[in-house]
Amino acid sequence: MTLITDTLSRAADTTSPLLPVLAGRWSPRGFDPTALVDEATLTTVLEAARWAPSASNIQPSRFIVARRGTDSFVKVHETLRGFNKAWANAASVLIVNVATLAIDETRENPWARYDLGQAVAHLTIQAQHEGLHTHQLGGFDGAALALAFGLAEDQAIVSITALGVLGDVSLLSRELLERETAPRTRKPLTELLLVDD
Ligand SMILES: Cc1cc2nc3c(=O)[nH]c(=O)nc-3n(C[C@H](O)[C@H](O)[C@H](O)COP(=O)(O)O)c2cc1C
Repeated sequence: MTLITDTLSRAADTTSPLLPVLAGRWSPRGFDPTALVDEATLTTVLEAARWAPSASNIQPSRFIVARRGTDSFVKVHETLRGFNKAWANAASVLIVNVATLAIDETRENPWARYDLGQAVAHLTIQAQHEGLHTHQLGGFDGAALALAFGLAEDQAIVSITALGVLGDVSLLSRELLERETAPRTRKPLTELLLVDD
């Protein structure tokens, strides 16, 4: 039986109305292992990252784009830790998010990771708009990944984004299915506001 945990039922229960793409974004593990992202859509999603703002417009974000079925995809997937390995192989694309830490030989860019995060955020929302889903990952062996792709010392791998299409969650293990269907929660807004005068 095909059992897809749909976006509608996973949408955020917000206290104020949000843009549908923001409320509808969530991080699935049940990707369709046969789905492909067409090239025009993938370019659109990456273009959203390109047009994100960055400090002094330095644009420190770099991406390793690995489509399922390629050697690059296998190389990225091999570095995933724990249960990430069990579900991320079904993503259509694994995107390694890299921050360039140096501005030049003498200066560091203190906002490089911040800017990369913002670029990835824009990418995730554009993907949601395109009917795709994203799931960001911090569980991977960064040193192995940097070695596999020959990254320079000032290129910091911060995260990986799994990009794909929702699939049949009954293919997931019981443990992953539990996580997939667990209620989505957030701290109350009042806890986030250090000052709210
Ligand atoms: C930087 C970062 C690292 C993450 N690492 C992992 C990970 O290694 N494995 C995983 O399953 N989810 C990972 N997540 C997903 C979060 O657990 C998820 O975003 C959070 O629980 C909120 O759920 P939602 O995205 O569905 O709203 C990561 C998310 C971010 C932003």
